Amino acid sequence: MKSIEEIRNEIESFKIENAETLEQFRLAFLTKKSDIQALFGEIKNIAPEERKAFGQVINELKDRAQQRFDENKEKLENAQSAQSQIADVTRPSNTVSVGSMHPISIMMNQVRRIFEDIGFTSVTGPDIEDDWHVFTALNFAEEHPARDMQDTFFIELHPDILLRTHTSSLQVRTMEKQQPPIRVICPGRVFRNEAITSRAHCIFHQVEGLYVAENVSFADMKQTLLYFAQRMFGPEVKIRLRPSYFPFTEPSAEMDISCNICGGAGCNLCKHTGWVEILGSGMVDPNVLENCGIDSKKYSGFAFGLGIERMTMLKYTTNDIRLYFENDVRFLQQFKSATK
Ligand code: PHE
Repeated sequence: MKSIEEIRNEIESFKIENAETLEQFRLAFLTKKSDIQALFGEIKNIAPEERKAFGQVINELKDRAQQRFDENKEKLENAQSAQSQIADVTRPSNTVSVGSMHPISIMMNQVRRIFEDIGFTSVTGPDIEDDWHVFTALNFAEEHPARDMQDTFFIELHPDILLRTHTSSLQVRTMEKQQPPIRVICPGRVFRNEAITSRAHCIFHQVEGLYVAENVSFADMKQTLLYFAQRMFGPEVKIRLRPSYFPFTEPSAEMDISCNICGGAGCNLCKHTGWVEILGSGMVDPNVLENCGIDSKKYSGFAFGLGIERMTMLKYTTNDIRLYFENDVRFLQQFKSATK
């Protein structure tokens, strides 16, 4: 019978180079018929006081054999999988599904870029506002209906705190901080206490613009808005300003563009008028300038505000505003090519 020393040497010197030699190693040292097992059979012939020490030695031998086997098995498996990865260049790669920008973000960025090109800077501010920035500074009368709970989400514990109903609050924040010339656009999310339908939502997005400097005229505003409409909807688009009312602008106007679906001939989208409304605008009311610490004798300005959802619906002819909030991937995927 082989000595313990002999077996130990064999275990250590056995060359395991591939699956075949690994299997030979297993058969030699790790099966019931191995020399190590035979040694276990010898225990009964050993003097009782030496049995414990003997048992320990052959157990160590067996553990060592198992250890060499495990190590080499793992090494061979790793090498094999690395090799197969290098070798099979035709293996299909893992598919990574790439998302796309949300249509609202796409549109916000487009609007922003158009105005940034003519010197406007983007500013952002808090969604949760106070009465001063959303209403009072903007010349809203004390009893104005927008201050009603029906139209505005107030924070119950504090009647002065509310979710902004328009990003005009950022006009105020900007003018409070900065003297003219001011040229900013204010993109952001706004909230109104409205029933959700295919055409209205209680959450939507706006981009507001504000330009204050010396001698700013209504004609400057009209030209700026025409530039915007043509870059957004194409050079053939026409604009039309209709008199309107906002507490913070005087005079005020709503702007329509010639319907981009029927080109003005009349269709469902424009309700057969040939025109669709896209924004509110006007010359900043002197009271608003004064409320924000700007000299209304020296400076004048214009402001405008447009709804992003509405614009996106027009540009991509979507007929239900709720689609923008459902995040159904089938809907969103249609805007993949517009992301760039
Ligand atoms: N803040 C107005 C709205 O939410 C839009 C607007 C902005 C009108 C600026 C005039 C000037 O409807």
